[in-house]
Amino acid sequence: MLYPLYNRRLRRQLRGLPKPAHVAIAMDGNRRWARGEGYDDVRIGHRFGAKHLEQFLQWNADAGVTCVTAWVASADNLRKRDSSEVDYLMELTESVLADHVRRDHRWRLHVAGQLDLLPDSTARALKEAVDLSRDRDAGDLTLAIGYSGRLEVLDAVRAVLDEAAADGRSLEDIADELDEETISRHLYVPGLPDPDLVIRTSGELRMSDFLLWQATRSDIEFCDLYWPAFREVDLLRALRTYGRRRLERSR
Ligand code: IPE
Ligand code: MG
Repeated sequence: MLYPLYNRRLRRQLRGLPKPAHVAIAMDGNRRWARGEGYDDVRIGHRFGAKHLEQFLQWNADAGVTCVTAWVASADNLRKRDSSEVDYLMELTESVLADHVRRDHRWRLHVAGQLDLLPDSTARALKEAVDLSRDRDAGDLTLAIGYSGRLEVLDAVRAVLDEAAADGRSLEDIADELDEETISRHLYVPGLPDPDLVIRTSGELRMSDFLLWQATRSDIEFCDLYWPAFREVDLLRALRTYGRRRLERSR
């Protein structure tokens, strides 16, 4: 009942504070949330979790955040979880996430991860949504799916070496010229700003291989709530903490 009031107060407090251009979210705790709500089928947690991302995007847009990266599933999730759970996550990616991008004209979609780990139909649905949203310019949404930060850096280095080999350059030259900028340009989604703020839900105090390269200077907010229970006030609070810290540091 009191949340609309609290929301308004938080919004007022955010005025004049530095705002992150890029927020990344590790959406964790779907299965624990489902069990806590009395559902035996953890897929219900995943369904709520996927629908919840739509709301999270709206809250970010309302708060003026124009770049969001959401961690849908790690490479390990796809390799190690039961195939029926992974199949369901893929189905949700197609029917909820890619579909949201089709309908919400705000977001230009990017995909980060090992796309060869995805079933053809999921890779196709994502690619279609990427193509369809290519010319939008109000916001950038990256879905990290089949994602590992270490593999992303490894893939970037491989791409640099492949290009150099194709150009016939020597190993010495490559070693001499290799710099941060070159690696950054070969990440899965080049050209976006690094995340200013990374939020992880469910009380886990780890980064777990999320945005290894990009998040070296990010502020991190750990939130105890399971992802489907994360509310707009929790985002606004995280933005307030971020804004106050940045202001403090700039003094
Ligand atoms: C996050 O929720 C979604 C994915 C990683 C696919 P989890 O499925 O990790 O749920 P918990 O953390 O086990 O509760
Ligand atoms: Mg988890």
